[in-house]
Amino acid sequence: MLDHLTIVDHPLVQHKLTLMRQKGTPTAGFRQLLREISQLLAYEVTRELNMTTKRIETPMQEMDAPVLDGKKLALISILRAGNGLLDGVLELIPSARVGFVGLYRDEETLEPVQYYFKVPEELEDRLVIAVDPMLATGNSSIAAIDLLKQAGAKNIRFLCLLASPEGVAKMKEAHPDVPIITASLDEKLNEKGYIVPGLGDAGDRMFGTK
Ligand code: URA
Repeated sequence: MLDHLTIVDHPLVQHKLTLMRQKGTPTAGFRQLLREISQLLAYEVTRELNMTTKRIETPMQEMDAPVLDGKKLALISILRAGNGLLDGVLELIPSARVGFVGLYRDEETLEPVQYYFKVPEELEDRLVIAVDPMLATGNSSIAAIDLLKQAGAKNIRFLCLLASPEGVAKMKEAHPDVPIITASLDEKLNEKGYIVPGLGDAGDRMFGTK
């Protein structure tokens, strides 16, 4: 059973995260690092997947070999920055089903506004991994998970790159059943709802929109 908050302190994750935080890291490098880090985080978020066995034949003999049990898991990208994490996770779990929740943050109220929702069928039978690089105010993450629960999801994990203490606390209050897996718990949010020290606007940095 995962704790409510897991910080992945693996040296490779921490090293890559430092490179991503640096403001001089160009878009291509940022994207590549995010892809690499998301594979390492995916390894952690799937650590406790249920297993079963399957009878196979090696060139030497038959054996009962371990395979993943149950329906294929669902990866849900919280647009748009979630797509950066999604790509790397999909490389590790290519058969996963994929959904998208479109939410943008109203920069004045900091409240999430929904503009898109499309998720795989039978969410109730799947492990659902929602991905968004930044757990900042928690408003959009909570709203996305509200929507996933309304669509039937029962077993949800939230994967992010950076989390703020404020966002983690809010998520715990709203969704205590959803474990959070992150590479870092940063110091705080600033007055504009950005994580500090953070890495700036994850979407802008990965797509080069600023
Ligand atoms: N979203 C971002 O991209 N960065 C932050 O610091 C907070 C929210």
